Amino acid sequence: MFASGRGSNLAALLSAIGKGELHATIVAVISNKAEAGALDIARTHGIPAIHLSSELFSSPDEFDQTLLQVLQEHRVEIIALAGYLKKLSSSIIRAYKHRIVNIHPALLPAFGGKGMYGHKVHQGVLDYGCKVSGVTVHLVDEGYDTGPPILQRCVAVKEDDSAETLAARVLEQEHQIYAEALQLFAEERIEIHGRKVIIKNPA
Ligand code: GRF
Repeated sequence: MFASGRGSNLAALLSAIGKGELHATIVAVISNKAEAGALDIARTHGIPAIHLSSELFSSPDEFDQTLLQVLQEHRVEIIALAGYLKKLSSSIIRAYKHRIVNIHPALLPAFGGKGMYGHKVHQGVLDYGCKVSGVTVHLVDEGYDTGPPILQRCVAVKEDDSAETLAARVLEQEHQIYAEALQLFAEERIEIHGRKVIIKNPA
């Protein structure tokens, strides 16, 4: 798991694993921010918490080589991004083709793209006057939030919502849907047809 912030999605995934709803092992948590809450959560659970910032390397290539080495050392099969505010390079995306997922707090392709994170997303939804927002779990490609959706879920926008109240309602759904999406990988139910993700044997 890669995260730059507080790590509530990491906590939700760990809880889903604990309850037997997600058959996965989080083998490492990687962050570009030494102070990320996600790293603290990882440490509390005895999961390797790795701070890896490109700023500490002399070139992007050197950073990528180290990152790939860390991923291999921990036998990472799937990379799950949650609030990881750094674009992955093409070499990492190629190495983990169709095995990198991200969670975005809106219904992509609306309110996504470069710079659309945190409260900017929710404020954008409110300023536009949308009646629904939601969550998207998608495969990561080389663009910003442009990979094909795996699962999406709607969240109603209320007349008196602020970016904070909407964010909180969306986050509740994030905490459900991310485990569900990753469980589809665990059950080998994800197929990629062209640009589309097809879920085998939907409920
Ligand atoms: C979530 O809202 C996620 O959708 C977005 O970044 C936020 C991360 O939150 N990509 P947390 O660090 O998992 O609490």
